[in-house]
Amino acid sequence: MDREALQERYGIIGESTAIKQVIDKIMQISKTDITVLLQGESGVGKDVTARAIHSLSKRNRNNLVIVNCGAIPEGIIESELFGHEKGSFTGAHEARKGYFEKADGGTIFLDEIGDTPKNIQVKLLRVLESGEFFRVGSSKMFTADVRVIAATNQDLWELVQDGKFREDLYYRLDTVKIKLPPLRDRQDDIIPIFRKFVTEFSSKYDSVFQGFSDEAKDLLISYRWPGNIRELRNVAEQLVVLEKSQFIDKDRLQKYLKGRQHLGSTDNLPVLSRKEFTDDEDDDFESGSGTDMGIIYRALLEMQGDISDLKKMLAKFVYSSFSDKELKALPSAVPRDIDPNDISGHIYRDSSDKDSLGISTPAEPQEDEDHDIIQDFFSDKEIPSIEEAEKFLIEQALKRFEGNRRKASDALGVSERTLYRKLDQYDLQ
Ligand SMILES: Nc1ncnc2c1ncn2[C@@H]1O[C@H](COP(=O)(O)OP(=O)(O)O)[C@@H](O)[C@H]1O
Ligand SMILES: [Mg+2]
Repeated sequence: MDREALQERYGIIGESTAIKQVIDKIMQISKTDITVLLQGESGVGKDVTARAIHSLSKRNRNNLVIVNCGAIPEGIIESELFGHEKGSFTGAHEARKGYFEKADGGTIFLDEIGDTPKNIQVKLLRVLESGEFFRVGSSKMFTADVRVIAATNQDLWELVQDGKFREDLYYRLDTVKIKLPPLRDRQDDIIPIFRKFVTEFSSKYDSVFQGFSDEAKDLLISYRWPGNIRELRNVAEQLVVLEKSQFIDKDRLQKYLKGRQHLGSTDNLPVLSRKEFTDDEDDDFESGSGTDMGIIYRALLEMQGDISDLKKMLAKFVYSSFSDKELKALPSAVPRDIDPNDISGHIYRDSSDKDSLGISTPAEPQEDEDHDIIQDFFSDKEIPSIEEAEKFLIEQALKRFEGNRRKASDALGVSERTLYRKLDQYDLQ
């Protein structure tokens, strides 16, 4: 099978050098049993790649078992992976096969491998090296003939340095690495992928896409796509459904890109890829020429925007139970851009009418437990990344409002649609 045929068969769109290299690597390694590590941000195509590798391999008649190592609670991950014997722990009424046994003869895809607890990492290493493992509660050794594909959106080597990931397992996994670059680093692929999604959704929703202006196209290309292809897919779906039969100009498109609900957001400003400015010989990064300063300035603005959004979200959580008097008495470290009057009944956008502003009902009384969870989260880690913090806050909001997305989005100060997009971006249910 050649590269084009493979792309066609697995729906992997793209003409960029980066995607071509990925495809070539898939072709080189899929017939072998070699362990593969897929590395890339969320939404870049790690799942798609793992499926293609399995389906091109000689194991394709057997199972591909997909395990999200980051989503399984620490207490049960060992029995999920390796199975357990009857009575090995409370609730183990029956003996049960683990994922490795289910994948015997096939492939196991260990997604978010960086989140695997360290005591499990040592057991993974053994299966990788010898195919051997033990069910929980059994001293009988099992073996499975399994090809391992692992994926991570973290820098595993950094985790090794921090003592969170075993070095021996790192080397074992790092034999063949496929790096899937973020969409913003393969801008050539954006329009072709977008077209594919628009065609798919137009036929799914029986809608006719009227096309988009050059400016809208430029915006699609220059936008930084933090959620990568998954986000591009969502935007295409929303445009097809919500802007049915409309010609898409820049303003229309902008509403669907991250940060559209925040006035003054710089999220939609074009970001030049590093390649673009290093290709230009007149532009010496060190010299701090006009364009370079522009890039740096824009990056700073973006960062500032994100941080202030985050501060607002956080403040709404931590201080929403405080009375006005208590708020005034707080030390000056409290984010200043929060209007205390804005806290108990803040403004939100009504998703049914994009231009009407409504006042939400006051947030429900807060429990001390929530404060503790939030404080633990922040004292536990060094400084969480903005994405980690955002994901965490979303989880807390959903928990507090028992999965009610409207209330959760109100509390977070974002539109419901943004919340949906974030849930998808972070793979939250
Ligand atoms: N090259 C590509 N062309 C078209 N669609 C893609 C491509 N890569 C990924 N997708 C789509 O993007 C979405 C996210 O891909 P996925 O493999 O789940 O990403 P990841 O596992 O890295 O988070 C899926 O809907 C997938 O079908
Ligand atoms: Mg994935």
